[in-house]
Amino acid sequence: MNILAIETSCDETAVALVKAEKGRFQVLSDLVSSQVKIHAPFGGVVPNLAAREHLKNLPLLLKKTIRENKLAPKDIDIITVTQGPGLIPALLIGTNSAKALAYAWRVPLVGAHHIAGHIYANFVRENSNNQIPNSKSIKFPVLALIVSGGHTQLILMKKHMDFRIIGETLDDAAGEAFDKVAKILNLGYPGGPIVAAEAEKILTAQKSANPKAQPSDRRRLSLRLPRPMLNSNNLNFSFSGLKTAALYAVKKNPVILKDKKMTTALCAEFQQAVIDVLVAKTLKAAKKYKPKTILLGGGVSANEELRKQLGEAIKNNLKNTLYFMPDTQYSLDNAAMIAVAGYFQYTLAKNKKKFETNWKNLEADAGLAL
Ligand code: KG4
Ligand code: ZN
Repeated sequence: MNILAIETSCDETAVALVKAEKGRFQVLSDLVSSQVKIHAPFGGVVPNLAAREHLKNLPLLLKKTIRENKLAPKDIDIITVTQGPGLIPALLIGTNSAKALAYAWRVPLVGAHHIAGHIYANFVRENSNNQIPNSKSIKFPVLALIVSGGHTQLILMKKHMDFRIIGETLDDAAGEAFDKVAKILNLGYPGGPIVAAEAEKILTAQKSANPKAQPSDRRRLSLRLPRPMLNSNNLNFSFSGLKTAALYAVKKNPVILKDKKMTTALCAEFQQAVIDVLVAKTLKAAKKYKPKTILLGGGVSANEELRKQLGEAIKNNLKNTLYFMPDTQYSLDNAAMIAVAGYFQYTLAKNKKKFETNWKNLEADAGLAL
């Protein structure tokens, strides 16, 4: 089955062609057009600018996909599009384009949930990478930690497309906090990769001084930020206070902005504080719900330290629990993950004979529930 997928929920225009076969999802084409440069001067995504760029770029990406794969309507079994959540002007470009294509080509259309996409990014297969789980043999219950610019959630799945949010942020998402801290430090946008690169400098320096140095050695830094809700009695997160603590640290000691080493130290401490909380809450959730598999996903899952430290924590504390994460390329917003989520949505629709796959019934929904 060939799936054509479109993603326009935020600031990436993306189109993918994915082949679904025996529980595996092979990427045949994957195009992403990033708008980062356009939004960077504003320090965040401007919804109407995002929509204008999607309108300009989506037809180009679709044409390229069709041309390069010599696609005719008969080659596509379903079209899937991100229905929500996201910025409504941005979502509308993707959903309306998908509806027009589905109508013209007489192909079923299904809406995919963006967060389901981040979870199912774990099944996207670029080549014969054996690390990637097979969606047929994956062991449930699955616990997913999704950390992106808009969401930070712990989600329990007893089967495919069965989502229960067991913990989430009460204020800022982890990625949003990365972006805001980068802004406080005048480092640019998006903040996640920049803060991560700064933090990496310290780890590299520590490693060359002491090859056995662990990330936790960063705790020796004099700069210390809080780990919000680390010991709270639930599985929720809060990152707004952490961002404010970084702001106060800079206000109290403005030299942090000028002294490169201090900027780097603050980035490293901030990143470690986020990771400490994410790892601790994931372990807490795992001890309570005893998942057989843990999946990581969302833009912040491109963070190498998070990937590594969560993996080590799972290995040391949760025997026999499988751990997967997407290729970093598929951690960030893309349409291949929407193809996989759309495939499962379509399967559900067919089995229940309840959901419609008619283009007429699909509406963008900025606050779509999981
Ligand atoms: O999933 P995503 O591409 O878009 C949303 O659905 O929000 O996530 C984007 C977020 C941004 O906040 C960005 O700063 C963050 O992911 N991010 C990272 C890294 N790469 C991207 N955060 C930490 N470390 C990274 N390496
Ligand atoms: Zn996303």
